[in-house]
Amino acid sequence: MGYGRKRAVLLIRNGYLVDPEGGHTGPGQLLMAKDRVVAVLGPNEPVNTAMLKQTLDAEGCLVTPAFLDLHAHLREPGFEHKEDVASGLKSAVAGGFGYVCAMPNTYPVNDNPIVTDYLLQKAKALGLSELLPVGATTLSQNGERLTDFHALLKAGCVGFSDDGRSIDDPLVFQDALIYTGQLDTVLFEHAESKRLGGYRGIHAGIVAASLGLEGSSALSETAVVARDVEILRHAKGRLHLTHISAKGSLSYVRTAKEEGLGLSVDLTPHHLLLTEEALAGFNTTPKVNPPLRTEENRLALLHALKEGLIDAIATDHAPHTQREKDTYFEDAPPGVIGFESAFPALYGLVEKGELGLEKLVSLLSIGPAGVFGIKGIGLKQGSLPNLGVWRVFKEPFPLPPPRYSKGKNCPFVGIETKVKLQAFIADGRVVYEYERGFGA
Ligand code: DOR
Repeated sequence: MGYGRKRAVLLIRNGYLVDPEGGHTGPGQLLMAKDRVVAVLGPNEPVNTAMLKQTLDAEGCLVTPAFLDLHAHLREPGFEHKEDVASGLKSAVAGGFGYVCAMPNTYPVNDNPIVTDYLLQKAKALGLSELLPVGATTLSQNGERLTDFHALLKAGCVGFSDDGRSIDDPLVFQDALIYTGQLDTVLFEHAESKRLGGYRGIHAGIVAASLGLEGSSALSETAVVARDVEILRHAKGRLHLTHISAKGSLSYVRTAKEEGLGLSVDLTPHHLLLTEEALAGFNTTPKVNPPLRTEENRLALLHALKEGLIDAIATDHAPHTQREKDTYFEDAPPGVIGFESAFPALYGLVEKGELGLEKLVSLLSIGPAGVFGIKGIGLKQGSLPNLGVWRVFKEPFPLPPPRYSKGKNCPFVGIETKVKLQAFIADGRVVYEYERGFGA
C-alpha cells in the first residue's frame, strides 16, 4: 500500500483532525495499524481500502488523540460501590480518555506492588484505556514513612502521590522529592493544609457564610504551594501540583517556572468552569477539595491556562454514590466525577472564543503526557493509534448524565454543549461507539 511494512487495519475518513501540535489540523484521513498511525492523508487522497478491516466515516466529527488524565480515582480495591476499574475505564473511554492515572487512595492503599499489579492486570484484561497507577508516597498515605518507590516503579507505577491530602511534614515532603527525583519520577501534590482550615469542601466566601458553614480559605492552598516551591528549589526533583484552585498559588507557579524548576501543574474542568455559587442551597454534588472558589479565582486560572502557565487539564474524577452525597453538607464526601463531561463541558470555552481547540486538545493530551515524558500521543505518522471521534452539533443540547461511571456526582449535567463522543479507537480498533456502546 506504500505506507511501509505495517499493514493498516482502519481508515478514518471525512473527519476534521485536531492535531495538538498543529501540523495536521484540518480535514483529513487517518490510516492506522494496531500499533501506530500509519499515515495522515489529505481529505481527497485515494486509499486502497481492500486490505482494511474497517472504515469509519467521521463526517461532521473532530478527530483528536486519546486524552490522558493525570488525576482520577477508580476506587478499586475497596470502594467498588463507588466505581471499579471496569466502570471507571469505560467511563474514561466514553469521555475520550485513553490513559488514566489512578490515584492510590483505595483500600488497601496502593502503597505496595501487589495492589499495583492487581490494578494493571484488571485494566489489561479490559483492553480499553491504559491504567497508569500512581503509587502512594507514604505507607497508608499517613504522611509518615515513605513507600518503596523503587519496588512500586518496577511494578508499573508512573509517579507518587498521597492525593486526597498533602504531605504535612516538610521533611517527609523533602525526602519524597529527593528520592523521586533520584528515580527520575514525579511527585504529585494535593496542596491543602488541614491546619489552615482546608478540606472543608467549600470556599471561605459569601456562599459558605450565607449557609452558616466554615469554608476553606485560599491560604490553605497557597501556603502549601509556597512551601512546596521553596523545598523544590532546594531539593530539586519533579513536582506536579494537581488541581490548583487559588489565584494566589499561580504567582509561585510562575516564579518556579521562570527559574526553570521541575514544576508542572494541572487544573480541573470544575475549577475552570464553576464557582462557589454552585454550592448554594447546600448542594453537595460540587463539594470538592480544594473547593470551587470565586469568579476572581476562576478567571485567574483561565488566564493562566491561556498564557501557557498550566501544563494540563485533569479531571480529578472522584466518584461517590448518591446516597453518600445525600446528607448534611459537612458529612458529604468531597469529589465530582469528570471523565464523560470534561471535553463536552470545556468545549464551551472554545465556543465562546476563550480557548483555541488545538490548545484545549493539547492540554488534555500532549500536555499531561509531557509531565511523565510519555511520547507518542498525537496525530502524526507513528503516533499511538488511540483516538476520540467527537460529533459536533449545530445546536447546543443539555449534557446528559454520564452513562458508564457508577458515580452520579457530575456537576455539569444539564449545561449546554455541542459535542458528543461518537467513537473511540484503542490500538487501531473501534472499541466504543455512542449508539452501540462497548463491544462495537
Ligand atoms: O474532592 C476530592 N475528592 N478531592 C480529592 O483530592 C480526593 C477526592 C476523592 O478521593 O474523593
